[in-house]
Amino acid sequence: MALYSEKVMDHFLHPRNVGIIEDANAIGEVGNAKCGDIMKMYLKIEDDIVQDVKFETFGCGSAIASSSMATELIKGQPLDEVRKLTNKAVAEALDGLPDYKMHCSVLAEEAIQSALEDYSKRTGRAV
Ligand code: FES
Repeated sequence: MALYSEKVMDHFLHPRNVGIIEDANAIGEVGNAKCGDIMKMYLKIEDDIVQDVKFETFGCGSAIASSSMATELIKGQPLDEVRKLTNKAVAEALDGLPDYKMHCSVLAEEAIQSALEDYSKRTGRAV
């Protein structure tokens, strides 16, 4: 059996939503101290909906695939749903990750949570 699913390979080789949003109003950045990978998420939130999202990831293929899938999962979604996104849901949407690569999907969850915290700070509203 292949180590990585077709979806992981597809999102690694053709990542969606790569880049930055100049006028983002929620930015989250996280890193994994062990592997040194870094992920940054830019969200443009309007009317409590994620209107746009982009990411920059300096890391392994699974981290890139996880960021790409996570952005697809939250784009156009209300903040209530975005808040609930787990790394497990990201990994499942990718048709799974090897156990020792699950921490890469955790980065995606944490980057989004960090962006939501940033949004709360900027707006003074609890998300
Ligand atoms: Fe660190 Fe993938 S090996 S995020």
